Amino acid sequence: MSGGRVLCRLEDIEDGGAKGFYWGEGTRQWAVFVVREDGRVRGYVNACPHLGTPLELLPDRFISADGRHILCSTHGALFEIADGTCVSGPCAGECLTPVEVHLDDQDRVVLRDDAFVTI
Ligand code: FES
Repeated sequence: MSGGRVLCRLEDIEDGGAKGFYWGEGTRQWAVFVVREDGRVRGYVNACPHLGTPLELLPDRFISADGRHILCSTHGALFEIADGTCVSGPCAGECLTPVEVHLDDQDRVVLRDDAFVTI
């Protein structure tokens, strides 16, 4: 796969952790976050299905204390890391919006070009 936006190096995300990315300005802003688990990466739009706000209150704090779920810090919703389904909280049953990310041959995390989603 070629093209896309390089977000960071894989080593920039702790295994079991996550990292948020923002870019753009004015009415053209994007926010996504990437979770690293067992050497693979998954990406989601950084917007909670409950109110549409970013999930993290502190930089890169997207994972619950027990490391098992993605956490929305605003009202405590928990989401499956594997598919973004909300399993607890005010938006139970709803899903985070996935974005396509992959590792390139230099172990960089790359967001597919057409995966950009405005916030
Ligand atoms: S905004 Fe995420 S749980 Fe309310």
